[in-house]
Amino acid sequence: MKVGILGKGPVGDALAAAFTHTGHTVRIGGRAQFGEIAHFGELLVLAVPGAAAEAAVKGLGATAFAGKIVMDVTNPIAGEPPENGVVRVFTGPNDSLGERLQALLPEAKIVKGFNSVGKDLMFRPQLQGGPPTMFYRGNDAGAKAAVAGVIRSFGWEPYDCGAITAARVLEPLCGLWCLPGFQRNDWHHAFKVLA
Ligand SMILES: NC(=O)c1ccc[n+]([C@@H]2O[C@H](COP(=O)([O-])OP(=O)(O)OC[C@H]3O[C@@H](n4cnc5c(N)ncnc54)[C@H](OP(=O)(O)O)[C@@H]3O)[C@@H](O)[C@H]2O)c1
Repeated sequence: MKVGILGKGPVGDALAAAFTHTGHTVRIGGRAQFGEIAHFGELLVLAVPGAAAEAAVKGLGATAFAGKIVMDVTNPIAGEPPENGVVRVFTGPNDSLGERLQALLPEAKIVKGFNSVGKDLMFRPQLQGGPPTMFYRGNDAGAKAAVAGVIRSFGWEPYDCGAITAARVLEPLCGLWCLPGFQRNDWHHAFKVLA
């Protein structure tokens, strides 16, 4: 698949390496390249600061994303520093950045995932408890099937959480994942569903 990664930060770089390793053709870049990357990719990864995400997609325009799978890894983290290890967010409990982005890009197939783990564990994490669970959500079944395949190939168990509305409960997992990191510099863990 042709994968365009919008954002050349730590996450964009980690996912670019992962997609390349699993046989995809990748283009990645920063703001100056967003237009050409959006045009190139069949699957686009949105990997910009959460606080900048809405303005970034508005700036590119909804038609740039029309018909494309958009893997959204952003989190609605506010600028302030964490308090006792707890990050601040700019969304409320009945709102999410994933839903806001889907509303701005009605013809894009947004699938949100990889937001509840750090960049170093995104690809084939080696954890004592075995393959962890990657929660994903979105409104388009075909796009979700494609992202589930990506999740599997990256060494995770995909867990379908339904429509993009589920971002309301899944974006906060970012804060929970970061908590041991900010409290005691422990970043080596991931979520797993046990039944
Ligand atoms: N870090 C992690 O481990 C982690 C894990 C899961 C999810 N996330 C989420 O993934 C996203 C990306 O995080 P990151 O740590 O890779 O780096 P980041 O610093 O959040 O993003 C860097 C990229 O965003 C672009 N950017 C910066 N400001 C922008 C703006 N105002 N408008 C448009 N683009 C802008 C930069 O473009 P230029 O190159 O042009 O400067 C750069 O390419 C965030 O939403 C974060 O919450 C992070």
